[in-house]
Amino acid sequence: MNELKKNKNKGFFSSPVKLSSNHLLAIEGMGKSEIQKLIERADYFANLDRHTNTKVLQGYVVLNVFFENSTRTRVSFELAARRLGAEVINISLTNSSIKKGESLLDTASTLNAMKPDLLIVRHPHSGAPLLFADYLNCSIINAGDGRHEHPTQALLDALTIKRRLGYLEGLKISICGDIANSRVARSNIHLLTTMGAEVRCVAPSTLMPSNLENLGVKCFSNMKMGIRDVDVVMLLRLQNERMTGTENPSEREYFKFFGLDEAKLALANPNAVIMHPGPMNRGVEIASALADDTNRSLIKTQVEMGVAVRMSIIEALNHTKNKMMKNSK
Ligand code: NCD
Repeated sequence: MNELKKNKNKGFFSSPVKLSSNHLLAIEGMGKSEIQKLIERADYFANLDRHTNTKVLQGYVVLNVFFENSTRTRVSFELAARRLGAEVINISLTNSSIKKGESLLDTASTLNAMKPDLLIVRHPHSGAPLLFADYLNCSIINAGDGRHEHPTQALLDALTIKRRLGYLEGLKISICGDIANSRVARSNIHLLTTMGAEVRCVAPSTLMPSNLENLGVKCFSNMKMGIRDVDVVMLLRLQNERMTGTENPSEREYFKFFGLDEAKLALANPNAVIMHPGPMNRGVEIASALADDTNRSLIKTQVEMGVAVRMSIIEALNHTKNKMMKNSK
């Protein structure tokens, strides 16, 4: 018998999460208990043996629609959906419809006609997944939209921290680097402040958005001050593809002031851990030896947790849809 159903009968594991929405578009607006349940369920998936039969979504059709190049996120979603038994179709639209001039709404209506259950969307423009959610009949997961949000990344980061440090509430966490262009930073700020962590943002002033303090974080333009005594140092990639001018004139100078090396890390809590969503630039955002230091660096665990978190979300969206349909009968 399928492992999930078997366990359910025994009644000793957390069940699929029911969400307040049919979609996962952003962390902003999500409640603490919803976030907590998704993380707990993902933790359960992460503890399962990789060959455990978890195929509860047979016949469920997932379109992985990427308007931007991506390897890790696309593969992670694909593995998650396949482990749940869903049918997955990968559609890369970076060189296709956009270049041929098709509007986003026409692309949406074409995809809708294929009657998927779930669309996973990555798009260079903020708000594109919301537009899809408005026009399509299926569930939508935002897999990263412009500088806006990347909700599954924040959830997998939270699970990674919880598995290593045990809790989120009260932790001191510094998010360092190109905050202005980062959807990862925005989703993490919303999630970590909601869960009660003390969040700091560290960036050169050219890469720090104005009024960020309104989101409940402390801002620093000096990394040595920004990471003092923190429990987690979360680094971000310099997102050159989203920069418009001379926000970062020199990578060498950036590493000197904002790259994580042993000397700067020594200012953090002695047990502080290092994170990076990838892809990382060694010698620019992080000293190469630190990235590979398995005592401090959680970078590989982040990738591993990505699959478990995405399983928990895909399962939750299917469960939520079924509950909604039942209630409307
Ligand atoms: C991030 C993204 O695409 O927003 N990467 C990822 O999802 N693994 C961060 C980045 O590109 O720097």
